[in-house]
Amino acid sequence: MAATHLLVSDLDNTLLGDDAGLDRFADWVRARTGSIRVVYASGRFFASVSASIRATALPAPDAVIGGVGTDIHDYPSGKLFTEWHDRIGREWSAARVRDALAADARLRPQPEEFQSAFKVSYYRDGASAEDLAVLRRRLGEAGLDAAVIYSSDRDLDILPHVADKGTAAAFLAGRWGVSSDRVLVCGDSGNDLSLFRQGFRGVVVANAHAELKRLEGPRVYQARQAFAAGVVEGLEHWLSGVGAHAPDR
Ligand code: GLC
Ligand code: MG
Repeated sequence: MAATHLLVSDLDNTLLGDDAGLDRFADWVRARTGSIRVVYASGRFFASVSASIRATALPAPDAVIGGVGTDIHDYPSGKLFTEWHDRIGREWSAARVRDALAADARLRPQPEEFQSAFKVSYYRDGASAEDLAVLRRRLGEAGLDAAVIYSSDRDLDILPHVADKGTAAAFLAGRWGVSSDRVLVCGDSGNDLSLFRQGFRGVVVANAHAELKRLEGPRVYQARQAFAAGVVEGLEHWLSGVGAHAPDR
């Protein structure tokens, strides 16, 4: 039986944050085994996401998008989709990103465990849209085609511009033959914005940051409930009629 839908959800403060809601989400997914593929898309890397899957009620996903879209791993094998790195790594140099931004004392590099060849991350409290524009300009002047992604008023990620959670999700949807109107995405903060820019159907949990709360339009559902309960509410909104054990629609 081929899966007809793909769910791509953020973890921290989206699925994770309320245990009772997470139990309901796990039941919801279990009732649709075989009809919905599940992918977790996180700013964290694969090892950390795997540890969360093992330590919580999160159901086992089909794949994990890690490092804000810079890595894609099969689950549970952990096998890396190397073609994704081939695609995003062209003309990219983490060292040149660090050099281009080295003079900015307000950027504090995140610990080494959060850095990779494709993800250069800093803490930067309270950056404005203009501050981010300055950073984009500086990277452009250094000849770098980079995405500047700002989340939760603190986390700043510099990635190859073709890599984000949204493009990684589109890569998997294409690979699995799921059309974009059957891809459901859920999030709470800035690094999830790209998921809402691919023509997918989106769910914003009630506890989301302003950067997602302000999203609107026919493909965005603002849930009334927080965390995983909000995810289930949004999935039911989009999939009313696609009930458990009704995989043919
Ligand atoms: C996760 C990552 C961190 C990143 C943040 C926002 O917390 O560990 O490196 O900056 O997500 O994307
Ligand atoms: Mg989050």
